[in-house]
Amino acid sequence: MQITTSAAPWWQHSVCYEIYVRSFADGNGDGVGDLVGIEQRLPYLADLGVDSVWLTPFYPSPQHDHGYDVADYRDVDPLFGTLADFDAMLATAHDLGIRVIVDVVPNHTSSEHPWFHEALAAAPGSPARDRYVFRDGTGRNGERPPNNWVSVFGGPAWTRVPDGQWYLHLFDSQQPDLNWWNDEVHAELDDVLRFWLDRGVDGFRVDVAHGLYKQPDLVPRKRGDRLPHPMWDQPEVHEVYRRWRKLLDSYDGDRMAVAEACAGTPEAMARYIRPDELQQTFNFTWLEAPWSAAAFRKVVVDTFASVGLVGGTPTWVLSNHDVVRESTRYGGGPAGVARAKAAALTMLALPGSSYLYQGEELGLEQVDVPPHLRQDPAYHRGAEPEGRDGCRVPMPWSGDTAPYGFGTGEPWLPMPDDWAGLTVEAQQADEHSTLQFFRRALRLRREVTVGLPDQVQLLDSAPGTFAFRRGDLVCVVSCGSRTARLPDVAGELLLASGDGVADGRIAPDTAAWFRAR
Ligand code: BGC
Repeated sequence: MQITTSAAPWWQHSVCYEIYVRSFADGNGDGVGDLVGIEQRLPYLADLGVDSVWLTPFYPSPQHDHGYDVADYRDVDPLFGTLADFDAMLATAHDLGIRVIVDVVPNHTSSEHPWFHEALAAAPGSPARDRYVFRDGTGRNGERPPNNWVSVFGGPAWTRVPDGQWYLHLFDSQQPDLNWWNDEVHAELDDVLRFWLDRGVDGFRVDVAHGLYKQPDLVPRKRGDRLPHPMWDQPEVHEVYRRWRKLLDSYDGDRMAVAEACAGTPEAMARYIRPDELQQTFNFTWLEAPWSAAAFRKVVVDTFASVGLVGGTPTWVLSNHDVVRESTRYGGGPAGVARAKAAALTMLALPGSSYLYQGEELGLEQVDVPPHLRQDPAYHRGAEPEGRDGCRVPMPWSGDTAPYGFGTGEPWLPMPDDWAGLTVEAQQADEHSTLQFFRRALRLRREVTVGLPDQVQLLDSAPGTFAFRRGDLVCVVSCGSRTARLPDVAGELLLASGDGVADGRIAPDTAAWFRAR
């Protein structure tokens, strides 16, 4: 299948599937997912009906933060394959009509990056140190960190090197922050983008996009400090994205970037998607919302208000590799999965682009990984009491026992004993499975949302429900505890996430699409 172009850029309404590379499919039997494994499973994603995939970092890395610690931005880690494997995977994806976006990690490198080795070998004040944020310490002998900033992963954001200076790391100590006040850093990252664009990627997911610049005087934080924050969302960062936008636009094919930005206000978030900046920013408000019709309504209203400030298009995200899976957040068990399906169907009716996280289509729940097997640095540094490993357990593809067709080796995280019924194989054979529901939803989305307006009209609806209309598509989600009356405008039923839609009523934990009367 060829990728067709229409008037609207492809990313505006795409369903993008996040592939957590080390957990998707293991092609070489070492227990870790890889590019060959991804390529083999791309037909599955085409059949599922996604428009694009986002690949988490597969670059050479000591894997202290599973690839978000990059030692070489222009190659593939042998754990995941080779550049030739990448090219082959990309070509297959494009043949199947699937766009591919890759992660770029501009806030920090790995401590194994050659630049950081050079910095450690060089003297304080040297150009090599200036690519990172090195400072003298405080206290009589510089034995205390330069300021009181705290790492996102827990503990101080500074680590001391043998000659007594300290370097900044907003994440793990093996992820030193780059100094974006240094032009060489700009030139390097521009070149990295070009490297992957030249290979044919369709875009980037920009890790920690609100990071990069830190206030140069590194002011300490005071207890209860409100914005502006000295570590995040500095005004200068927008100049970077203006330049990156020009760079993206200099290529054909609507190349794009989606920012993982966490700025304090809707206005601050909208700044990342001004017409001359990045095309999208992840909208994490739904991912943070409880299972509640009122909360969902507020998410939709606030999102349109935010993107409307700059004429941007919304994105919708229920989960990713950093958070507890939504089926578990919504209560777990059959009700949790039913709610997750309902939330997904609601999200997929909305204008804009939806991001799915691998395993969401199987109704996977968070796994309780035994503490001694947890690998997440945020767990080991204390910021994440459970760690993020529980949403990163490898995908179950087939068979009755672990590793369920993920590969032939022992998977890098243990897979639950009771996943036989959740494998792709098992769910493909069951018309009523969560996977078949997602397939139907994505197919129907392609059929019925083409040409629909980019605005929604919120509808008055029964207590505990949230309903809206987009052109002649009506979507209703019921988060209440009892069966509720459907709005009168809900005509022919197109698809429901559960059985309980009949006689003008919708059961709890269910969403449905209707043709408007
Ligand atoms: C990524 C995380 C990673 C962190 C540091 C995040 O936004 O999604 O998985 O640990 O950035 O790079």
